Formats: sequence, structure tokens, C-alpha cells
Amino acid sequence: MHRDWQSHYSRQAARMHLTVVSGPSYPKQGEGFISLRSGAPPAECIPREWLERGMERAWSAPQDLFGYQSAMGAWDLRVLVAERMRALGCLDVMPQQVMLLSGAQQGIDFLARLFINPGDPVAIEDPVYPGALQTFDLCAPRYLPIPVGADGLDLDALERTLATERPQFLYTVPTFQNPTGATMPMERRERLVAIARAHGLILIEDDPYSALRYAGKDVPPLRALDPEVIYLGTFSKTIAPGIRVGWMVMPEALKEKMYAIKEAADINSDRVMQQAVVEMLRTGFFPDHLGRIRALYAERRAAMLAALAERMPPDVRWTEPEGGFFVWLRLPLGMDVADALERANARGVGIVPGTGCTAIPGGQSDGMRLSFCAQPPDAITEGIRRLADVIASLRS
Ligand SMILES: Cc1ncc(COP(=O)(O)O)c(C=O)c1O
Repeated sequence: MHRDWQSHYSRQAARMHLTVVSGPSYPKQGEGFISLRSGAPPAECIPREWLERGMERAWSAPQDLFGYQSAMGAWDLRVLVAERMRALGCLDVMPQQVMLLSGAQQGIDFLARLFINPGDPVAIEDPVYPGALQTFDLCAPRYLPIPVGADGLDLDALERTLATERPQFLYTVPTFQNPTGATMPMERRERLVAIARAHGLILIEDDPYSALRYAGKDVPPLRALDPEVIYLGTFSKTIAPGIRVGWMVMPEALKEKMYAIKEAADINSDRVMQQAVVEMLRTGFFPDHLGRIRALYAERRAAMLAALAERMPPDVRWTEPEGGFFVWLRLPLGMDVADALERANARGVGIVPGTGCTAIPGGQSDGMRLSFCAQPPDAITEGIRRLADVIASLRS
């Protein structure tokens, strides 16, 4: 008998947004295809030798690595993460407030489970990180999308929303946002924190990219302005996504419940890997490694911005991010990204359509995310040339 699996799905699973970056039904890339889709560091940016050394040392570490551990994660790594947080300006962060996670993604999941009843309003960015949307979908919230511009979240729009709604939280990526690359300047961060305080709004700050700045000056995280901000960090973009090591910094009051949620999900994250990261960080390799990958990404960013300036017609607009992995491009008036996507795939260049980065059905249909992290400068230049051809062909 042929089972109709779909009729068995939960309502949330049936309605969830599907993957737009990769996935089982994504078209296979032929030879010569230039993907500007990836949000993952390429092989040349993974510190493989340091990882190997860390793993070797972890295996020979004296402590028992093979049992369960506290759901909070390895103490030694929590100490190192707390040090990093303090270096970012979050001066009060102690290891006791740090929970290690299987990637920041797991933190998004846990916070959704902690705060969302089906139908509850949640404020999210528009466009938004598609992975967060998928996670939230499973808790069936009612989305309140807040526009993101070149300077990050539109705070006037947020205030208008808060005049009539009481969202369970605001989820935001204030630094080198996925997908726009936008960064919220300091004054706006201060205003956002003040708005949140005035309205009793919980802020969830997702911060995977702030260590990857190529221009301009560092801006402290929201968490540095208010210890009630819930902060998510990760080593996915600076060491490797495959190791699945991320963290949450949370107010003390949430710890007991979060501990139970972590236990319910997977008891604890991979201990051996946590120890390997401890061993790696203790070698002191990290600052040099960051310097090296920043230089490489800076070159790729410059290649993308130069190619866009050279190739794109004047009615195409794009962001000029100071860090992270992404540029956000807006098509000329009347052009639809679904058409651009189809032609781009045929022309051998991969993009992420804006329609996959929004909770608004049919929204962001003139937007696309272009990633510069995973291709060498020559390929980026060629990819943008192909994309310009696609745009020209859509016009005619
Ligand atoms: C904004 C944002 N949050 C979270 C993640 C997932 O990070 P992790 O690999 O730590 O789960 C990503 C990865 O693309 C991201 O861009």
C-alpha cells in the first residue's frame, strides 16, 4: 500500500518554509556552476590542522569524555566563551550564564520552544535569516515582520508594531545581518534596547558574524547594553560549521528551564568536540586564524562589490556590508526574483531568492541574497557577470 505521508504531518510541519539555500530537492550543480548561495566557510577557511591537533589532544585529555555531562556543556569551554564575551564588551558575563549548544541554531529552537504558544505574536526581521523562520514555524507563531534597511532594523516600524502588539520576543541579527549584511549603528542599538525596556520586550540577539569585520569599526553587541538580552554565538563561521559548537548567554533566571529543554532535546552536546575546541583555543591560534580568514573574505567582498558596480545597471541596488558573508540585491522595479532564479540557475549562477527570506507570503520578491564567502574572486566576478546578463535578459 502506498502511504500518503503528507496527510500525517503536523499542521506546523505541513506549513513550514522549505530550505532555500540547499536541500534534497535543490537542483544539482553542474561543472562550472558558480554558487553564490552558501552561508558556510569554504574549505580554505577551515583551520584543519588546528582542529586535528585539538582532536588529538582531546582524545588524550585525562578527564572522562565518554559519559554524559552537564547540559550546560564543558566548563573549560564555557570559561573561554565567557572571556570572549567580555572582550566583546559584555563585561558581566560569567561562565555560569553560558550554555553550550549544538550550534546557534539549537538556541533559536530552544528559545522558540520556551516562549511561543501556537498563535503567539513574535517580531522578526524582514528579510530574515531563513533558518530561524523554519525553526519558529514549528511552534506556529503569528509573525510580526519588521523591515530591515541599510542601518538594520526599522525602529520606527518596530515602535508602531509595539503600539498595538505584545510580541513574545524580537529576534534580530544586528551585526552583518543574514541576509542583508546590514549592521545597526550604536545609537540605534541604544534606542532599540530602550524601546525593548519600555515595552517589556524580550530581545534575542543572534550574532554569528561579528568577528568577521573587513571595514569600519566594531560595534558592541546588544548584550553589552543590557544583561537581559539573550545572546547566541557560534564557532560555525570562524572555525567550522561541522563541529556544531555554539552557545547561549542567558539571564540567570532562565537557566533552570533552559537546562531542562537542553536535556529534553539531546541531554548534552558532543563533549569530545567541546574539549577539542578548548584545546585549540588554548594554543592561541585563534587571533592569527581570524586575521587570515578576514583578509581572504575581505578580498572576496571587494571582488563582489567591484563586479556589481561595474556590471549592474543603475536601477539595481545592493548593500555594502562591512563584514559577514552577504550582499543583498534589489532588482529593478517590476522584476520578479522567481524569474531571475530560474534564469540564473540555467545561466550557471546560484542565488538565494528573497522570497525564501520572509514570513510575508510573496514578500521580498525583488530581493536576493548573494554570498561572497565561498567563491574565489575570479568566480565571484564571473558569477556577477552572469547575473547581470540574467537581469538584462529579463528586461528585454
Ligand atoms: C543568522 C544565523 N543564525 C544562526 C545560524 C546557524 O548557526 P550554527 O551553525 O551555529 O547553528 C546561521 C548560519 O547560517 C546564521 O546565519
